[in-house]
Amino acid sequence: MHHWNTQYPNRFNLDSTDDYQKWRDEKLAAYPGNLGDLVVELGDMTAITDAEKARIMDLVERANMCVYTAGKAELSMDSLLSLGKQLGVSDTDKSRRHANSDELTNSGILNRAIPFTTRHVRWHTDATYYGSDKTIQALFLLCQRPAIEGGSNKVLDHEIMYILLRDKNPEALRVLMSKDCFKYKNPKTGEIDDHLGGKVFWTNPDGYLCHRFSFRKMDMAWSEDSDVRAARDELESLMLNESGHVIEGRLESGLGLVSNNVLHTREKLMDSEDPSNKRLLFRTRFYDRVNC
Ligand SMILES: [Fe+2]
Repeated sequence: MHHWNTQYPNRFNLDSTDDYQKWRDEKLAAYPGNLGDLVVELGDMTAITDAEKARIMDLVERANMCVYTAGKAELSMDSLLSLGKQLGVSDTDKSRRHANSDELTNSGILNRAIPFTTRHVRWHTDATYYGSDKTIQALFLLCQRPAIEGGSNKVLDHEIMYILLRDKNPEALRVLMSKDCFKYKNPKTGEIDDHLGGKVFWTNPDGYLCHRFSFRKMDMAWSEDSDVRAARDELESLMLNESGHVIEGRLESGLGLVSNNVLHTREKLMDSEDPSNKRLLFRTRFYDRVNC
């Protein structure tokens, strides 16, 4: 472990360069180079050992995520929640959501919202519609059945995006860290909720970086402020350029993702016609964060 949060507490402070430069160089050097480097093999995800937990925490510090094998555990939502508990996260958003919204499958629920279809999902963090006051900080997945073809994810640690933007255009980053950049817009009525808005990057009370972003526009009202527009263009062009730090992989049956709500896509997929053979991933989102 590097203990960056205590070693470089000002790494996300735009007015301090010392901590940033040191952390940046160490972070880039330690960042996993490919999918294989992200994998932690667990004997049983519902009863992880101290060594397994240490390996997860090491990867979470380096990349804000890891891919794990479920081991002998049942591939279920309960197993996913159990893993969360063992990693210190348990405050889910399940009570606010449709009962089946954490079963990612081609069910067509929520007016065929895109996660519940076979379509491509562009770069985003989850749950941008909650605003930055009470945000989703962790996102866990567990695959029970993959698609017949496709359905892989690209992932990128949002701290890497912070580095890319800070190096290229720190003033754009300053805007995204200080201004009210977008608010929730009801996709049916177009009504904008002033209480569900906020920043694009910010730090939580423990000093960790939070991020919310999506290319999806239907439920997001971006500010028309010219500084926000310019900063958003800069950020979106970095997303579209897909830096060499983007990692792509498919969660096969028995594989899952632990993440602090990192940026991700989902590639389009071909699914089985048979409802009992459709792609199925369990998802849990937490208001709390896996702290390393
Ligand atoms: Fe997502």
